[in-house]
Amino acid sequence: MISSRQHHVVNYDRRRPQAANAARWRVATLLAALCLIIVAPARADVFAGEEIYRQHCELCHGPGGNPVLPDAPNFVRGDGLMQPDRMLAQAIRDGKNAMPGYYGILTDQEVIDVVTYLRTLF
Ligand code: HEC
Repeated sequence: MISSRQHHVVNYDRRRPQAANAARWRVATLLAALCLIIVAPARADVFAGEEIYRQHCELCHGPGGNPVLPDAPNFVRGDGLMQPDRMLAQAIRDGKNAMPGYYGILTDQEVIDVVTYLRTLF
């Protein structure tokens, strides 16, 4: 009789810390997931970039990067694209000769999105 009660007590004592540990892990995992959601930087959105291109760039650079304007680089051949993203973004913000600047028209995120789309053309 006594030995069976002792057995029960021993079992109870052994199980509680495990349950507490599992709960602690669940909370820790939840907190980690929350941190990821809050801290994760915005990603480039290639589909948004395509929309922006259609709206603002296609007029001169043509559908899919085949230029309509003779002076515009041919993105299908990779013209003008052989530079780092931040240089492309700068060129888009500042404009270049016949090309207007998009500073104040497109947000930084939209410029990044459209650069990401340009990368799909070549
Ligand atoms: C009014 C016509 C026009 C529009 C609209 C236009 N561009 Fe251009 N773009 C040009 C021309 C012309 C050039 C070539 C400039 C030069 O090198 O003289 C150019 C060059 C570029 C270059 C190459 C820059 C470099 O450093 O050589 C990129 C990238 C570019 N355009 C992206 C865009 C994007 C993205 C948009 C839309 C947000 C856009 N352009 C809208 C005419 C245009």
